[in-house]
Amino acid sequence: MVSPGPNDLAHLASPEWVEALHAVSREQFIPGAAWAAPLGPGPGYWIDRAADPELWRRAVYSDSVIVTQIDDGATDLTEKTASQAASFTSSSSAPSNIFEFLDLLEPYSGDRVLEIGTGTGWTAALLCVRFGSNNVTTVEVDEQIAKQAAATLDRAGYAPTVVVGDGTEGWPEGAPYDRLHVTCGVREIPYTWVEQTRPGGVIVAPWMPGVGGHKVRLTATGECAVGRFRGTCGYMMVRAQRRPGASLADDERESVARVDPRRVTRAGRGFEVALAGVAPGVTVAGSESADGSSMVVLSDLGPSHALVRRDGASRRTVVTQRGPRNLWDEAEETYLTWVGWGEPGIDRFGLTVTP
Ligand SMILES: C[S@@+](CC[C@H](N)C(=O)[O-])C[C@H]1O[C@@H](n2cnc3c(N)ncnc32)[C@H](O)[C@@H]1O
Repeated sequence: MVSPGPNDLAHLASPEWVEALHAVSREQFIPGAAWAAPLGPGPGYWIDRAADPELWRRAVYSDSVIVTQIDDGATDLTEKTASQAASFTSSSSAPSNIFEFLDLLEPYSGDRVLEIGTGTGWTAALLCVRFGSNNVTTVEVDEQIAKQAAATLDRAGYAPTVVVGDGTEGWPEGAPYDRLHVTCGVREIPYTWVEQTRPGGVIVAPWMPGVGGHKVRLTATGECAVGRFRGTCGYMMVRAQRRPGASLADDERESVARVDPRRVTRAGRGFEVALAGVAPGVTVAGSESADGSSMVVLSDLGPSHALVRRDGASRRTVVTQRGPRNLWDEAEETYLTWVGWGEPGIDRFGLTVTP
């Protein structure tokens, strides 16, 4: 049997990036012990190169996120802690997501690129193959992770500028950049990124406003950045934009829903970005049973919360809302507005970043 290797990822990379994929093998950037989280169905699992080298290689050369840190490093990563972890905080992203984002960059040779979120350093190494180490700067908020990545990059023969800092501030010392490549989720695109991108330059980022996660590609105009959504994604949030959660208000209000909640949860990506625009910060999670019963939970990760329960037999839908915002009312209203617009799909929406 042939041992897994870069060839197993080649179908995920476009011809422009295949050379880089072969030039920097992912295994050089993955620690001996880590948590593999496949992108498709199937649970995560522990990989330990010393204990089971074949399993480790299979995971590294599959379309899996390889988690290398939990709880910002406050908890040691072990099989037990990783399997129970509430928050994964650093990783080598899934190769399909990495290469889809790299394609969106549409780089020209000689471009200068800023990466936000160094992680293991594998993406930075791929960027170095394409742009040259002296054209790549990568910013990592976690000092330990940055140190580790810089050492791995050095061993692999690459020397990008590795900066420890808050990537939401970019890295003005190296600006302007032709390409800005963000590898952690953002709810809001910091305007500093627009300022540090050369007019005509491109910013790609995982935009994760609360409902859904979207790959976004923006072009800087000199005053703002404008662009469209290019597919789904799920990324670890940038530290500065995480929402810690707050205790819920206890002012419960009960009402009856006008719209079947399943219409809202199944409306799709066009509605998701409409909701993110009209009712910022709202998260929506739903579940359904075969008998027509369903439940939707809405939160703003602050004091506001809504629970919507539809009974399949009576078809009655009861809404319980708390806090200063009536989150279900906002979602229902936005849904009906979006229906009134003719239910536009995600391709009809865009994002503009201004000061
Ligand atoms: C998904 S990982 C990056 C994957 C990486 N590009 C790779 O290919 O290995 C996200 C990284 O972003 C870092 N991060 C989170 N918030 C950040 C911030 N404000 N500035 C810079 N890096 C940040 C995390 O520490 C984590 O290492």
